[in-house]
Amino acid sequence: MKIRPRCSFEGSFAIPGDKSITHRAIMFNGIAEGEARITNALLGEDCLSTAACMRALGADVTVGEGEICVRGTSRPHGADCYCGNSGTTMRLLMGLAAGCGADVTLRGDESLSGRPMERVAQPLRRLGAKIETCEGHAPVRVTASRLIGCEVDTKVASAQVKSALLLAALFAEGETAVREPLLSRDHTERMLAAMGADIRREDGAIYVRHSTLHAADIAVPADISSAAYFMALGALRGETLCLGVGVNPTRTGILRVFDRMGVRYRLENERQVCGEPVADIRTFRSPLRALTVGREDIPSLIDELPVIAVLCALAEGESVIAGAEELRVKESDRIRTTAEMIRAVGGEIEERPDGFVIRGKRSLAGGTVRSCGDHRIAMSGAVALAASTNGGQIEGEECVAISFPQFFSMLN
Ligand code: S3P
Repeated sequence: MKIRPRCSFEGSFAIPGDKSITHRAIMFNGIAEGEARITNALLGEDCLSTAACMRALGADVTVGEGEICVRGTSRPHGADCYCGNSGTTMRLLMGLAAGCGADVTLRGDESLSGRPMERVAQPLRRLGAKIETCEGHAPVRVTASRLIGCEVDTKVASAQVKSALLLAALFAEGETAVREPLLSRDHTERMLAAMGADIRREDGAIYVRHSTLHAADIAVPADISSAAYFMALGALRGETLCLGVGVNPTRTGILRVFDRMGVRYRLENERQVCGEPVADIRTFRSPLRALTVGREDIPSLIDELPVIAVLCALAEGESVIAGAEELRVKESDRIRTTAEMIRAVGGEIEERPDGFVIRGKRSLAGGTVRSCGDHRIAMSGAVALAASTNGGQIEGEECVAISFPQFFSMLN
């Protein structure tokens, strides 16, 4: 995919639906009583993996144009589920399968089969789940067992781990309390509450009791993680407006980064949609200052770090991103692949075990970026090339279909 540089970049963008919310809307309605319509659903490959897995477990899932209809099953049955590239699908299904009393095997592609699964299996076992991993990885085998609520502290601030526990807790006897070291995205808590679950947050813990879910229609907001590429292009090259973006505070770390870097932006038309805050985000070309990001900032901007690195590569001064070792276990080792991407376009970056140090330059020359099969590296590389002096190309660009199939046509 060739990318030509542009000195000015303006437009208004209907960014596709949020990946995290689409996964949850399909999965939770898939075990709920009744039928639901999910509108503005993301039809990327990851969410289609969730749809296929829920079908395999017995839910009736129909995928239409930007819309998914789900009729839930109260008794998911045993199945062999292929989760493709999707960590969210596999990890959340580990909790669901452990709870619902079915024998389920979860498999994934090569990248997903290299990612850690014991971080989910271990805390689920505390509730009585029977789960086997292959030396910590997929395939994961979940065997039917009786779960009993208990208190669990998660070791990582991961919404996938937390959500797996909350799903299992819906089926457990008694009460389960889940605590995490830092607050991760809370879409699961919001959606389960809207679907009638007995769930509450108190003193830094989430308490869940055995509950039956009721189907809920969900209008999915645009994904701030996908909007981030067009927001970055606005900040670097002109003015962009991203429409109907989810601005849940557990996801808006990039706006706090914009504040610190001196990026001018405005939230317009702020509203609530299906229990989630939504706004249009207008971003203006701005001179960029270097940035420091620490551990406590990471959960709210974890997926945006590659594109934030592109902004840092064009900011004045030295930026330091620390406490981000979770990037090492994403779809690729994103500390290594982000560093390779920044160097490939002519930027200066040093890898650290838990992040990077980036020395900003006035301009990036451009070059050839390898996606390494990671959608967020491909799209961040495209932003860097569009804002570079000579442009260049992305190798392995087809992986954008994981989260943003329309990315290149929208960029065009
Ligand atoms: C997600 C949680 C995050 C994020 C991923 C989606 C989710 O992962 O990086 O893209 O939908 O729960 P972790 O839970 O591993 O931090």
